Amino acid sequence: MIDCSFPAARLRRTRVGSWCRDLVAETTLAPSDLIWPMFITEGAGVEEPIATLPGVSRCSVDKLVGQAREARALGIPCIALFPNTPPGLRTEDASEALNPDNLICRAIRAVKDAVPEIGILTDVALDPYTADGHDGITDEAGYVLNDETSKILVEQALVQASAGADIVAPSDMMDGRVGAIRKALEEDGHPNVQIMAYAAKYASAFYGPFRDAVGSRGLLKGDKKSYQMDPRNSTEALREVAMDIAEGADHVMVKPGLPYLDIVRRVKERFEIPVFAYQVSGEYAMIEAAAAAGAGDRDALVLETLIAFKRAGCVGVLSYHAPVAARLLGA
Ligand code: PBG
Repeated sequence: MIDCSFPAARLRRTRVGSWCRDLVAETTLAPSDLIWPMFITEGAGVEEPIATLPGVSRCSVDKLVGQAREARALGIPCIALFPNTPPGLRTEDASEALNPDNLICRAIRAVKDAVPEIGILTDVALDPYTADGHDGITDEAGYVLNDETSKILVEQALVQASAGADIVAPSDMMDGRVGAIRKALEEDGHPNVQIMAYAAKYASAFYGPFRDAVGSRGLLKGDKKSYQMDPRNSTEALREVAMDIAEGADHVMVKPGLPYLDIVRRVKERFEIPVFAYQVSGEYAMIEAAAAAGAGDRDALVLETLIAFKRAGCVGVLSYHAPVAARLLGA
């Protein structure tokens, strides 16, 4: 039994100095907990700032390789790559997603050549390639078709795996796609390519800057509520996770991050699988805006939010603040 009687119990005793705060800390944060998402664009020597994501740029492949080296030097084990596809290559059938020489595949090969030790995670979804910015292909009424989309996602995952992706991360929320992708990876000779399922991905207002970064915001027709989850639901997230695990996911992800830590905690308590969260673009932007307005210290906000993910049960976090945090953690 815990003795709660004062003064035998003085909870401030173990807070008296940083040495003993460190000693009793229940959670730790290290650069190895972080995945750094990066945006890619065509060209050479290009670093285009993203207005709604201050401090983050779209990089051409050569510059991206430099960032991958930086990630490695900072002790960040994995990077996540997102392409900004030129408008002329966006079509109704998203065929550019299956081009083995598309921007993401060239980026994967360049990073693998230059920094072979770093893990590469790629998004499996069609929104960088569709004319209407949806994650799948649509019928005449604008409804995103599940099984037809799933077939293309399988091909997209194979194209990425063949280029050298280590983790494919379906972010599309089609039913059944994890199983279909796992089967195809096995049959196509990629038994060690991992799947991180965006298992509980919510239809969120926090994705705005990301859509600017990949160039899909202005294109998007309607919303994604017919495939992404309703923020009012929590138990449904457990069904999503259970299905993705049954279908062969190696990791599951909850997204967005901070507003959904209750989901992280429920998933962590229920399942024996690594749980990740994505601290998404709108969350990054909020922290930057708060700091710019003088409402809080940026570095402290970054570290406090990242430790919150670990405390909630995450084994790792995707965050645009990954390099900032890794530097603060003194890699
Ligand atoms: C798209 C995708 C999105 C994000 C990751 N993959 C946006 C969306 O679903 O519209 C969001 C990431 C972020 O906001 O940082 N498949």
